[in-house]
Amino acid sequence: MRIVVIGGSGHVGTYLIPRLVAAGHEVINISRGQHPPYSPHGAWAAVEQVRLDREAEEKEGTFGKAVAAQRPDVVIDMICFTLESAQQITEALRGRIQHFLHCGSIWVHGPSVQVPTTEMQPRRPFGEYGIQKAAIEAYLLREARLTGFPATCLHPGHIVGPGWIPLNPAGHFNPVVFERLARGEEVALPNLGMETVHHVHADDVAQAFTAALDHWRMAVGESFHVVSPAAVTLRGYAEAVAAWFGREPALTYLPWDAWQATVTPQEAATTWDHIAHSPNCSIEKAHRLLGYTPRYGSLQAIKESLEWLSLAGEIQVS
Ligand SMILES: NC(=O)c1ccc[n+]([C@@H]2O[C@H](COP(=O)([O-])OP(=O)(O)OC[C@H]3O[C@@H](n4cnc5c(N)ncnc54)[C@H](OP(=O)(O)O)[C@@H]3O)[C@@H](O)[C@H]2O)c1
Repeated sequence: MRIVVIGGSGHVGTYLIPRLVAAGHEVINISRGQHPPYSPHGAWAAVEQVRLDREAEEKEGTFGKAVAAQRPDVVIDMICFTLESAQQITEALRGRIQHFLHCGSIWVHGPSVQVPTTEMQPRRPFGEYGIQKAAIEAYLLREARLTGFPATCLHPGHIVGPGWIPLNPAGHFNPVVFERLARGEEVALPNLGMETVHHVHADDVAQAFTAALDHWRMAVGESFHVVSPAAVTLRGYAEAVAAWFGREPALTYLPWDAWQATVTPQEAATTWDHIAHSPNCSIEKAHRLLGYTPRYGSLQAIKESLEWLSLAGEIQVS
């Protein structure tokens, strides 16, 4: 099939595009051409690159038409963040494609009720990003069911892989947390360290996209969580990282107000966003209907990322 991936050179596309090429598809990547994939792969030689700036084209109302002009059988939309954006591309592709796969986020959920959270739970998103992702999901599933627009929504957790810094055990992205744990130095966690985060390896996200393509009948009109088999607590995550470096974890715990004063406002905001969600999502539906079987647990995926960051000199750990 002829597959257009919008935003295919990022975390997920780095793994997805080689998988699509290996499966024999004709692949077109639409991006601004500013960022190469995180890891080189021979498959990219077979990929047609189309340079477009989605934001600029959407302002002109031409983005959907430009995607349709590629005559795709399938469109994988990695970078849709607003309802208007989803509406514009849907209208341009209606009746022209066999499958439309949207990359959402587990942030379509707000605070958990019963965990692991299933796709059936009512949406209670908070924060503009999650609210928009939930609105896009509701719109696409409604279009699929009412008008036959062949949409599937895939909701990844915190995407991790070699080449970038994973969400750390304090719930933000400052790599110094990994360095301190590796040296056996004290790390403070908010509250009791029992709030959760839910990572997924980028290649497992790619696997879910190809599984949805392969299981069209099961996938159209449905949304799926795409996470590792189990979420981790901040405390358990910190203990595991220290253990990888042969250290006893020196963890302390502070109530939120005291803890947030120990980090930058940006780090505090990032941690708050993650622990207020405390995601813990089920992959049972994706496994049952699509055969999604992640290769990585959360800790395994993070360990691979840290090994890469250490070898690349991005973090100073022994
Ligand atoms: N990161 C996470 O932990 C996480 C978690 C849950 C869900 N998600 C979802 O994952 C999706 C992002 O996937 P990703 O992390 O693989 O992407 P990414 O690493 O952020 O890469 C973005 C891709 O889009 C291209 N791009 C960015 N702005 C563009 C524009 N204005 N016009 C055209 N192309 C543009 C980039 O290439 P150029 O820069 O060269 O244009 C690149 O190919 C989003 O829908 C996000 O909501 C992410």
